[in-house]
Amino acid sequence: MEPTLSKLDQEILDHQSKNFSSQDMLTLSQTYRRNGFIKVPEIVTPEIRAAVKQEALRLLDEFAERRDLKLATTNYTPRKMSVVGSELIAEHSQLVNAIYRSQPVLKFLETIAGEPMHSCPAKDEEFLITRQEKKGDTHGWHWGDSTFALIWILETPPTEYGGMLQCIPHTNWDKSNPRINEYLCANTITTYPFVSGDIYFLKTDTTLHRTVPLNRDATRIIINLTWASAKDLSRKLKDDDRWWAEEDVAAAVQEKEKEIAADAAAGR
Ligand SMILES: [Fe+2]
Repeated sequence: MEPTLSKLDQEILDHQSKNFSSQDMLTLSQTYRRNGFIKVPEIVTPEIRAAVKQEALRLLDEFAERRDLKLATTNYTPRKMSVVGSELIAEHSQLVNAIYRSQPVLKFLETIAGEPMHSCPAKDEEFLITRQEKKGDTHGWHWGDSTFALIWILETPPTEYGGMLQCIPHTNWDKSNPRINEYLCANTITTYPFVSGDIYFLKTDTTLHRTVPLNRDATRIIINLTWASAKDLSRKLKDDDRWWAEEDVAAAVQEKEKEIAADAAAGR
C-alpha cells in the first residue's frame, strides 16, 4: 500500500497533475537532456513559493555571511554574494526540509532526469541560499559537484540589471585543468532571463554556468536544493573548494586580502 501523503505533498501532487500532462513531462525531459536546463515554476503551488521566499528572507536576516572570493578550481572565477549555508537551513527550516524530501517533488524531477536522485552524501551541500546585492555581484563560471539542482528565483531585478543565468551544457569539470575560457570560445552560450517566482532544474555536473554580474546595486535572492546521482555517491571529493560552507577554503583567494596586498604594494 502507498503511504498516505502529508498535506503539503498532496497539495504539490494535485498542483502538478493540473499543470503537467504526460506529453509535457516528455517534452521537459527531452529539453533537459538537450540543454541541461528547464524552467518548472509549477512544480509547487504559488503559495509554497511565497512561503519559501519568506523562509529565505528570515534565514538571510539571521545568518547571512558575505563572500568575496575567487576559486582556483574554476580558473579563479568570482563568487560575490551573501550566503546562508546548508546546515543552518537544514536546522532552521522545516518547510525547506519537507520540500527536499517531498516524494512528489522527487518523482517529478526523477521523471525528467530519467534516473534516481539521492540526498547529498555531504550535509553541507544539500541547500544554499544566496543574495546578490551590490554592483558586480555574481556567481562566476562553475560546475556543481552534485548532478542535480533545483533553483528557486525568489527575487530578481529586471533583466537590464543583470542576474540572468548563462549555460553551456555537455561540458565536464576537471578541477585541476578547468579550461573554462576554452569552453566559452568553443561553444554557444545560452542566456536565460528570470522573473521573481521562477524555478529551474539544472544538470550542474555537466552544465558550465554563471550568473551575469549585476550592473548596479539590486537584490537577487535564490535558494538551491541539490541532489546526487548514483555516480555522485561513489566519488571522493578531494579538493578543498567548498567556499559556501567555509570562507577560508584552500582553493579560495579572498578579494579583500588581494585588495589589501595591492594597496600595500602601491604604498596606499
Ligand atoms: Fe551553480
